[in-house]
Amino acid sequence: MYAQLVKSEGTSREEMSPEEIAFQERIDRNEKIEPKEWMPEGYRKTLIRQIGQHAHSEIVGQLPEGNWITRAPTLERKQILLAKVQDEAGHGLYLYCAAETLGVSRDELLERLHSGDMKYSSIFNYPTLTWADMGAVGWLVDGAAIMNQVPLQRTSYGPYSRAMIRICKEESFHQRQGYAIMMKMANGTPAQKKMAQDALNRLWYPSLMMFGPSDKDSVHSAQSMAWKIKMNTNDELRQKFVDQTVPQAEYLGLTVPDPDLKWNEEKGGYDFTEPDWDEFYQVLKGNGPCNKERLGARVKAWEDGAWYREAMTAHAKKKAARRSAVAAE
Ligand SMILES: [Fe+2]
Ligand SMILES: [Fe+2]
Repeated sequence: MYAQLVKSEGTSREEMSPEEIAFQERIDRNEKIEPKEWMPEGYRKTLIRQIGQHAHSEIVGQLPEGNWITRAPTLERKQILLAKVQDEAGHGLYLYCAAETLGVSRDELLERLHSGDMKYSSIFNYPTLTWADMGAVGWLVDGAAIMNQVPLQRTSYGPYSRAMIRICKEESFHQRQGYAIMMKMANGTPAQKKMAQDALNRLWYPSLMMFGPSDKDSVHSAQSMAWKIKMNTNDELRQKFVDQTVPQAEYLGLTVPDPDLKWNEEKGGYDFTEPDWDEFYQVLKGNGPCNKERLGARVKAWEDGAWYREAMTAHAKKKAARRSAVAAE
């Protein structure tokens, strides 16, 4: 199938080098590519971008929810939310480690995040206004993340695929805790139900945007799919997400904010309204409601932690010097 695909530089298979052909054949046989093995530069670069962006999303994604830890309504909810937000930090760490195996340093990745050169998922540039948003984020945002990540467990790059296996287990817990909050709110007082509906209204379209632009506008798709860095197209995953989520909203007694949403018997899925792509590109450009706040918080955390990184480096150097002094005795 890859014979018809063009490489990112626009060359056809006939122009691929013997190494590139052998590499593609390994991928076609579902072999995993491991860190020290030969890989095309484009594959390495695309993976660094994708894994880095994913890692950044995990740590920036802690911010909108971290915001609610002190205001969780019960001790139990606080513990659950705290555990969830900690999990996201762990996901960031697995993914930065996976990216490092491709020859990029964590410092460089963070530097590129802070300078705005690398992105994170735009969903985190929306505010979390009420406790019901903690429900909607877990249900919809972690739900969309799972939809994206489950197929990536089979991705061709070994370290990324293994990180995804661990992460997906935890994401299921995140989605469920969110849905549990939504159940409580949707079956609560009229005011609580209204909050739940309002959270769904605000987060529905940003969640649909999480799958990225429509296939016809997505620049990286064909090559990434040939390399099995991407396993499904954006539109396929978005459709799957809608089909899974609409019945869950119905079960909650909430209304998906799309008057044109309709079951389509023929395609066996829902017809739905596309998100506002102008808004998507605006948020991507840095003009979303919370872009400045989120990036500002990350940069501040990096600067505030400088003394700690310096101390750790100095300590490691001292330890190494002591070790070599002992060895020399
Ligand atoms: Fe995560
Ligand atoms: Fe999560």
